[in-house]
Amino acid sequence: MKVLGIETSCDETAAAVVEDGRKMLSNTVASSMSEHVKYGGVVPEIAARSHIEVILPVIQQALTDADCEWQDIDAIAVTQGAGLGGSLLIGVMTARTLAIAHDKPLYAINHVEAHVYANFLSAEPPEFPMLAIIVSGGHSQLVLFRGHFDYTVLGQTQDDAVGEAFDKVAKMLGLPYPGGPSVAQAAKKGDPNSFQLPKAKMDKYDFSFSGLKTAVLRQAQAAIGQPYDFPSTKLPERLSAAQKADLAASFQRVAVETIADKALLAYKEFSPASAVLAGGVAANQALRRQLTEVIPLPLTFPPPELCTDNGAMVAALGCFKQMKNQPTADPYTLDINPSLTM
Ligand code: KG4
Ligand code: ZN
Repeated sequence: MKVLGIETSCDETAAAVVEDGRKMLSNTVASSMSEHVKYGGVVPEIAARSHIEVILPVIQQALTDADCEWQDIDAIAVTQGAGLGGSLLIGVMTARTLAIAHDKPLYAINHVEAHVYANFLSAEPPEFPMLAIIVSGGHSQLVLFRGHFDYTVLGQTQDDAVGEAFDKVAKMLGLPYPGGPSVAQAAKKGDPNSFQLPKAKMDKYDFSFSGLKTAVLRQAQAAIGQPYDFPSTKLPERLSAAQKADLAASFQRVAVETIADKALLAYKEFSPASAVLAGGVAANQALRRQLTEVIPLPLTFPPPELCTDNGAMVAALGCFKQMKNQPTADPYTLDINPSLTM
């Protein structure tokens, strides 16, 4: 059984063909990231326009790479949300049109859930019950999966997502966008214990990263002997490379420990059989190391290209929806849902 997955929730236009939820036959991604870098973040209008330009060639490439004709495709899966409205619209309208034109069942996919399913694209998929540690630019959540489509959200961020905190700290330190990889890179040269930063005390499985981000700002101001109202935009030119590296390393240590502490708590309470990391921040090596150290469980994380947004995770979830007889979407009426949650 082969499913075509289409993902356009942010700046990546992505399509992929996945067989039986496990085997990735193709995975095509066109990113408009280079057009956003000069603005220090994704510009929704530019992202949407870029999706329009490349979505059909990207889908065609995914079919060609998988050596598939339309008749070989059993269903289409498309990201319905969460994401940028204009970006989601392009993917959903394209998928609806293709589903009608080629008479294929259509599945509406939750982007965050799809990130988790990147972990099933493997010869040895994770076992249930499974603790999913979801860490992306828009979400930080701990979710306990008892089986496919049977899950409980244990906790989530009450303010910034962890990826968002990486991005904002990067901006403060004058490191290039996207912030996650550049903070991780800078942290390699820094001392993770050089700055004392607080861990937010939150209800059991909830997270908060906004206070940590502000603490980095205060410590950066103090490090150059400036008061609280010293503008963050001027920090990059005043901080030395060593101070930036130390701040990046200290921030990363606390962010990573916060996630690992909560994951360990969930492990002790629910005794899952496996743990999976999902979302863009799953690419972070320090986080992988910390989790592997503290949780005595097989920890699965996707290869780097499947941590960030891609069509294969959408197609994988689409396969499981079809295999588990989940409801299909109406190709004549399916709407986007920019604030879709799990
Ligand atoms: O999952 P994703 O591609 O988009 C969302 O669905 O939100 O995640 C993007 C986020 C960005 O905030 C980016 O800075 C972060 O993932 N990220 C990282 C790393 N690579 C990407 N954060 C920390 N360390 C990394 N190596
Ligand atoms: Zn994502």
